[in-house]
Amino acid sequence: MTSITSGGWLQDASRFSSISLLVGVCALLVAVLANIAYKLFFHPLREYPGPLLWRLTSLPADYHSFNGTLVFKLQEIHLKYGESVRISPNELSFTQSRAWKDIHGARNPEFPKDFRRTQLSPNGYYSILNAPKEEHARFRRLLAHAFSEKGLREQEPRIRQYMDLLVDRLNECVRSGQATNMVKWYTSCVFDVIGDLAWGESFGGLENREVHEWVPAVVGNTRYIFRASALERWGLGTFKTWLVDKKTLESRKKNFALATQKAEKRAAQKGDTHGDFWDRVLIKSAGDNSSGEGMVKEEMINNAAVLVLGGAETSASTLSAATYLLLQNPESMKKLVKEVRSTFKSSADIDVYSVNRLSYQFAVLEETMRIYPPVPDQAQRIPPVGGGFVNDKFIPELTTLHVPQMAANFMPQNFHRAWDFVPERWLDDAPAEFANDDKAAFQPFTLGNRNCIGRNLAYAEMRLVLAKVIYDFDMELDAKATGNWWDQKAFGVWSKGPLMVTLRAAKH
Ligand code: HEM
Repeated sequence: MTSITSGGWLQDASRFSSISLLVGVCALLVAVLANIAYKLFFHPLREYPGPLLWRLTSLPADYHSFNGTLVFKLQEIHLKYGESVRISPNELSFTQSRAWKDIHGARNPEFPKDFRRTQLSPNGYYSILNAPKEEHARFRRLLAHAFSEKGLREQEPRIRQYMDLLVDRLNECVRSGQATNMVKWYTSCVFDVIGDLAWGESFGGLENREVHEWVPAVVGNTRYIFRASALERWGLGTFKTWLVDKKTLESRKKNFALATQKAEKRAAQKGDTHGDFWDRVLIKSAGDNSSGEGMVKEEMINNAAVLVLGGAETSASTLSAATYLLLQNPESMKKLVKEVRSTFKSSADIDVYSVNRLSYQFAVLEETMRIYPPVPDQAQRIPPVGGGFVNDKFIPELTTLHVPQMAANFMPQNFHRAWDFVPERWLDDAPAEFANDDKAAFQPFTLGNRNCIGRNLAYAEMRLVLAKVIYDFDMELDAKATGNWWDQKAFGVWSKGPLMVTLRAAKH
């Protein structure tokens, strides 16, 4: 009897638990369906098109961000769905020139950077790249003079010595007869320049014939930022040290250690002026920044790392890509060679002022940055508190906003024959077929208060280096050793493979 009763009780209990399970599953299903219906039909961003899965969950966008492939996916999505797209439930991406102004332009209140996409440095302080408005303005004031046109003119002899050393090194490659990696030489050259201009001493890359260890470390640190923030958005921040690969974690540590060494060494020399960018930082920061107008030590460290990232990676990317594109487009190479070699009587005539006469070369650099923007997806922004307007449409606060340069530059609405390398479109007398190109959609240095402070320096370096190389050398691509150079990933900046080129001395 007892056993029958207990068996009945057991049967009842199992029936009850099956019913609860069924109810639970149904409730879950209803919740999921309600969530899907909300995101697709009632959400404030419902009218923006995009791939179905991406509109429902941020998993695909975060996966591609973690993997360094988001820029290519955004390009594909924009080409398929148009100029304004939804790439996760709360994330929009735009490619119009108007969106550039609305999101990145100087306005009050500004569209701040999306705090969910950045990481504080290991010391917990800001850098110019992730600082809120007030701190950002302070950092910017401290560095502004050094990067102005006047400041750069004062630095011209310092810049030029590295161009001459680059030519010496490339002449060694001519003598060896072996193909050489141009990414290495361009990177070492611009990295040495920023070392000298910012802290009064070169990194010795050209001298030692090798890329300084800080370069891969700083690129690895940007990879860390992308990976760690993607994990944090999924509540997995605690597991960063296991889920981010070892090489990336080590790069972050090394980047921080090298930035600390550099900032401390230069700070220890206070009192001596070196004629470098740090002079002003140190003067204003006296007494551990007692005036509040300078930087504390931790901020110096973080900003040192930003200068290295900006100074080494972006200009070197453009120079490498320009070389690759010219080698694949012999007609453009021919025109550039003719312009450079007919403008100057000797390599010594090429300086920061005289390179401005090279209009075709300028067009080559612009077209290169259109096809291969050195910063391919600008830092994401959010509307100000209460929301804001983009393309005259209201966007709720906390919506992540992208203006992916890589996608904008390939939209047929912005550029005619967008997939072709045509420097001529940037000339004053551009062929009529390019008359409707929307050049304001091309913003490699972004715009507004947080645009690139190194723009003048970047153009000066890129114009000088390319003119010197084209004047002195004939180049031939080693296609087999290079492979498909475009096969790269992007974490804020590109992870570039070697670009192997055989050099010969030019005949004048
Ligand atoms: C072709 C070369 C370059 C390109 C395309 C480029 C592009 C950019 C872009 C797109 C930004 C904005 C990043 C953001 O929104 O977070 C930026 C910021 C910055 N760049 Fe460059 N850059 C170049 C060269 C340089 C050079 C040579 C330096 C010198 C150190 C430099 C220093 C900086 C700094 C310090 C910032 C932060 C500015 C701020 O937040 O106020 N850049 N750059």
